[in-house]
Amino acid sequence: MKTTPTLALAAVLALGLSTTPTTSAQDAGKVDFEKQILPILKESCFKCHEKEHEENGKMKKPKGGLRLDGAAVIMKGGKEYPNENVVAGKPDASWLVKTMALPDSDDMAMPPEGKGDRISAANIDLIKKWITEGASFGSWKGVE
Ligand code: HEC
Repeated sequence: MKTTPTLALAAVLALGLSTTPTTSAQDAGKVDFEKQILPILKESCFKCHEKEHEENGKMKKPKGGLRLDGAAVIMKGGKEYPNENVVAGKPDASWLVKTMALPDSDDMAMPPEGKGDRISAANIDLIKKWITEGASFGSWKGVE
């Protein structure tokens, strides 16, 4: 049978083609840290929670000892809540998102009152979902 290898190849190709959309559909259901969460942190948190650096001739240290510009430092957390900034699987124990959900009047509300817009409920839910799903950073490492 001359046609068998061709048919087998066609079957493999067809399988390959048909599984590709399924895989990406599954990935699309999971929150992608780098694409979906990082931009929120960059916009609302980085100006106070980045690695120590010089700005206008002054050394700027991360507030509360908390850095949010790298995967390892996000897990390490800050002075008050070490190892509780992000607790994988437990959004209600994770200060990263707990502080965002606090009312402006609360001392621990992030960003602090007058220092930026409240994070939208939709984005808070997205971050909670990411933590519930296991808080994976994918291949993102950020600043060491
Ligand atoms: C204008 C500066 C500023 C911005 C912007 C800001 N923070 Fe903070 N953050 C602080 C300060 C100051 C502290 C220390 C507060 C304290 O200990 O009372 C702090 C502390 C924290 C802590 C507690 C860390 C610890 O373990 O002690 C968390 C968590 C936190 N911030 C998360 C965030 C998140 C998430 C964002 C963005 C939504 C954000 N912050 C934006 C100034 C800021």
